[in-house]
Amino acid sequence: MDKQHLESIARELVAPHKGILAADESTGTIKKRFDTIGAESTAATRIAYRESLFLAEGASQNISGVILYDETLRQDVTDGRSVTQALNDVGIIPGIKVDTGAKPLSGQDGETITEGLDGLRERCKAYYDIGARFTKWRAVYKIFDGKPSHGCIHANAHALARYAAIAQECNLVPIVEPEVLMEGDHTIEAYEAVSQWAWSEVFRQLFFAGVHLEGMLLKPNMILSGTTCPQQASVEEVAEATLRCLHRTVPSAVPGVVFLSGGQSDILATQHLNAMNQAGPQPWELSYSYGRALQAAALTTWAGDDANRPAAQAALLHRARCNGAARTGSYSAEMEAAQAAV
Ligand code: 13P
Repeated sequence: MDKQHLESIARELVAPHKGILAADESTGTIKKRFDTIGAESTAATRIAYRESLFLAEGASQNISGVILYDETLRQDVTDGRSVTQALNDVGIIPGIKVDTGAKPLSGQDGETITEGLDGLRERCKAYYDIGARFTKWRAVYKIFDGKPSHGCIHANAHALARYAAIAQECNLVPIVEPEVLMEGDHTIEAYEAVSQWAWSEVFRQLFFAGVHLEGMLLKPNMILSGTTCPQQASVEEVAEATLRCLHRTVPSAVPGVVFLSGGQSDILATQHLNAMNQAGPQPWELSYSYGRALQAAALTTWAGDDANRPAAQAALLHRARCNGAARTGSYSAEMEAAQAAV
């Protein structure tokens, strides 16, 4: 493990004004997204859409890295360069999702364990050779009927830690993603209690696994009211609860926290990040690793028609700029109004 290399990539990923674009939807998930706009999902349409995102001119001002799916990492862009070469040419770091998905957790009805440890060392080495410099693994926890169980919290934390150690051994920065889902009628207090438990267990297991904290990033959910909870917390309450939970569980040695958006509207995801950064300096950089909250407007604008590519790129760049501003707490509603007027 080259600790200095890992630390410098981790810091580059959370450089000022920048965050990560998550474009690592599995083939099944991207098909679902394309279905919503009536676009066919083929290897050709998937790369056409995705290259339009990360090769949008100027994207690197607010996008430090892109998380790719296995298929994309091995594809070429339209002008014949490999995806990794094209990303390197514009100064965006290629990353790769390495888990193989959340599968039913035996013994715990309705809960999942994320798989993908078998053969992971070999896959990580191969990904490094192709050009990836960071990785992602997502664990999923659901709040329902007295769950998550201890078994689910423990098994997923253990798998995340084993993954992170293997990724670092292969000189890939691990993004450790424990996602407590927002779907459900739970209160913000319940969401906070479960997240605190899940994140504490993750850092306990990362310690046992010998993970170098300075060479990793945490990708957590924000702490919100459940989607169907009658009482919805304000932006300020979300920022306060999320910061409190991070302070209680995340060592200051970790260079950055890159939030997932998890199904929040794109504007709300930006507002929450902005509010957290307005609260003043924190021990870690607070940034984004959004999938839907960066892509939603670009996807509907593209609508499967390459004639819409420039407008889709403008939509992505606008969201990236807004989130870049949220990194310093300088995002404002006027930024949205200015774009709407274009
Ligand atoms: P969302 O921002 O759409 O939640 O996606 C982020 C991600 O990478 C989930 O694993």
